[in-house]
Amino acid sequence: MADTARNGAFVEFDRVQKSYDGETLVVKDLNLDMPKGEFLTMLGPSGSGKTTCLMMLAGFETATHGDIRLGGKSINNIPPHKRGIGMVFQNYALFPHMTVAENLSFPLEVRKMSKSEREEKIKVSLDRVQMSEFGGRRPAQLSGGQQQRVALARALVFEPELVLMDEPLGALDKQLRESLQFEITHLAHQLGITVVYVTHDQTEALTMSDRVAVFNDGRIQQLAPPDKLYEEPENSFVAQFIGENNTLEGTVKEIKGDKALVQLDDGELIDCKPINVSKAGERTRVSIRPERVETNPARLREDAHTLKAEVQEFIYMGDIFRTRLRVAGKDDFIVKTRNAPDQVRMEPGQQIEIGWLPEDCRALDA
Ligand SMILES: Nc1ncnc2c1ncn2[C@@H]1O[C@H](COP(=O)(O)OP(=O)(O)OP(=O)(O)O)[C@@H](O)[C@H]1O
Ligand SMILES: [Mg+2]
Repeated sequence: MADTARNGAFVEFDRVQKSYDGETLVVKDLNLDMPKGEFLTMLGPSGSGKTTCLMMLAGFETATHGDIRLGGKSINNIPPHKRGIGMVFQNYALFPHMTVAENLSFPLEVRKMSKSEREEKIKVSLDRVQMSEFGGRRPAQLSGGQQQRVALARALVFEPELVLMDEPLGALDKQLRESLQFEITHLAHQLGITVVYVTHDQTEALTMSDRVAVFNDGRIQQLAPPDKLYEEPENSFVAQFIGENNTLEGTVKEIKGDKALVQLDDGELIDCKPINVSKAGERTRVSIRPERVETNPARLREDAHTLKAEVQEFIYMGDIFRTRLRVAGKDDFIVKTRNAPDQVRMEPGQQIEIGWLPEDCRALDA
């Protein structure tokens, strides 16, 4: 199974669909190629089909249509335990009646490994997650984070090439989650493992992954590296779902090359970058990130657009200031400015001018 397909992909979803009831498609048309060693995260709202995709890859569910390939070979008819995939699921608990060491030994016994070899592998795996002193304990005698580390060790103990993780850190507190995020990515890269990771948490997705697949309604909305996903969302869903975002509604007046002229609903005309609008007359949502807005437009280039705004709220957040403004008739426009020595603080009711560069303003679907 170590090979990759002709196109270089190790994991392939090829026009995959899934329906549980024979009517509704919960996975609509999934096409995804992953190279070996990639850390890919599936991110999306509840019910968007992430777990279903993982279950099909693991072999606990079958695709209704299409093909799933591992190392170039179709795995549709290979049972889960023969796919050689390691798994860490939130609800795929440790065996409660076995000790930590026995939990880790289990996948090795299934693979008919000798006792001495098993002992060596268990030791190495527990060391990796800093749990070597806990081999004799039962899961109930461990904290949540320790159990999660054992689950991770168990998924890695037989040295799988592919590991699937479904919200493995969901139940843990922030600090523990962050240290395990680091341990997981570090281990995955060190061991060259290909990982498909599922999370609700966008920060987790952005910080851990080589690429993120944003799911909604059974489809991948965008598949891109974290920075590209944040800086260059391809549609309104992704722009809204990833990070904080300002939207202004309007109508496209004209598109010329890489510029779209948009008339906002309060009449104002602004230049944007056309992303998924194609012609005059179309409704659009214009999207601008809060940190791309300048509250001192004198600092901007000449072709920058400026608008009048009224300060609604000014919040000191230590490293940044977060200002809520009334812009183009809406009072939920957010600006984030760095807490720099020359940055003036603002008062509610104050009239100001804001601006941004045309390339930071994206005309997306309405
Ligand atoms: N065994 C099942 N039988 C019938 N419908 C199911 C089954 N499992 C999931 N579904 C439905 O399929 C859709 C996708 O579910 P899935 O569990 O893949 O979503 P998810 O993206 O993992 O959501 P969450 O973030 O809440 O875990 C949902 O509408 C869900 O109700
Ligand atoms: Mg799920």
